[in-house]
Amino acid sequence: MSVFQLTVRSVVREAEGVLGLLLADPAGADLPPWEPGAHLEVTLPSGAVRHYSLCGDPGDRGAYRLGVLREPAGRGGSEEVHASVGPGTVLGVRGPFNRFPLVPAERYLFVAGGIGITPLLPMVRSLPPGSWSLLYGGRSLASMAYREELAGLPGVTLVPQDTEGLLDLDAALGGLPPSTAVYCCGPEGLLRAVEERWEGPLHMERFGAAVVPAADSGGSGGGFEVELRRSGRTVRVEPGRSLLDAVREVVPGVAYSCEEGWCGTCETKVLAGTPEHHDSVLGEEEKAAGASMMICVGRSRGPRLVLDL
Ligand code: FES
Repeated sequence: MSVFQLTVRSVVREAEGVLGLLLADPAGADLPPWEPGAHLEVTLPSGAVRHYSLCGDPGDRGAYRLGVLREPAGRGGSEEVHASVGPGTVLGVRGPFNRFPLVPAERYLFVAGGIGITPLLPMVRSLPPGSWSLLYGGRSLASMAYREELAGLPGVTLVPQDTEGLLDLDAALGGLPPSTAVYCCGPEGLLRAVEERWEGPLHMERFGAAVVPAADSGGSGGGFEVELRRSGRTVRVEPGRSLLDAVREVVPGVAYSCEEGWCGTCETKVLAGTPEHHDSVLGEEEKAAGASMMICVGRSRGPRLVLDL
């Protein structure tokens, strides 16, 4: 999918530390359609590439709405948006992509932590009242984006940590019918806490990297070789070096973005060998099948891997 240019139509403050951006086609054309859960890959003026969930109304083909949390300890993308993106800024965009689709279910529970509310907002808006509830935790009420929009919807519980403490997941998940579809987006700790407590259908989207376990036995904490079949080259991936780094030596234009195993940009077909997955993009079945891998965090279980690059 190719990159196209969109112009920032407006910037508003959605909450403490959260900017809301509306992006539109410079000539006013309709934008590609999207479904709740979708995200855009955005190239900022500095060239940094970031992924943001679409949090507006899918029925509005005139603009895409994004919510961007300022993360001073992040890699700089959110700082750039907050410091220098304003009305008229032109951004490169790819997508929309949807790796977090809303599946049909009789009943839903949505669990949001902080800016993790963004993909969940269009989901709850698209569902009939009474079929879902939303538990939304944030540092303080003032930091919780879209709380006013949500206040008008039945089934929403806002839990500001400074006055009400952490989300009571035991209570929220405890009495649910096992067929309930649980959707969760937020920091890693919240996702893991939900994972530990819920055995039914679970759909999660991570904004950061999953915790990558130390190379386990049979894994490649040591080095391995990777053959890049289409390039006709074989390179060695030394311990402590990422597969992506080694690949970039031979294929400088290889696509990647987050380098943390969650955006899906670097997904690569595996032609031979057994990948050792450390990403949060592929499902368990896809990981077991081993037909593709995220080369930014993945390694090899054996001494050699062959990739379609
Ligand atoms: Fe994002 Fe690899 S670059 S998953």
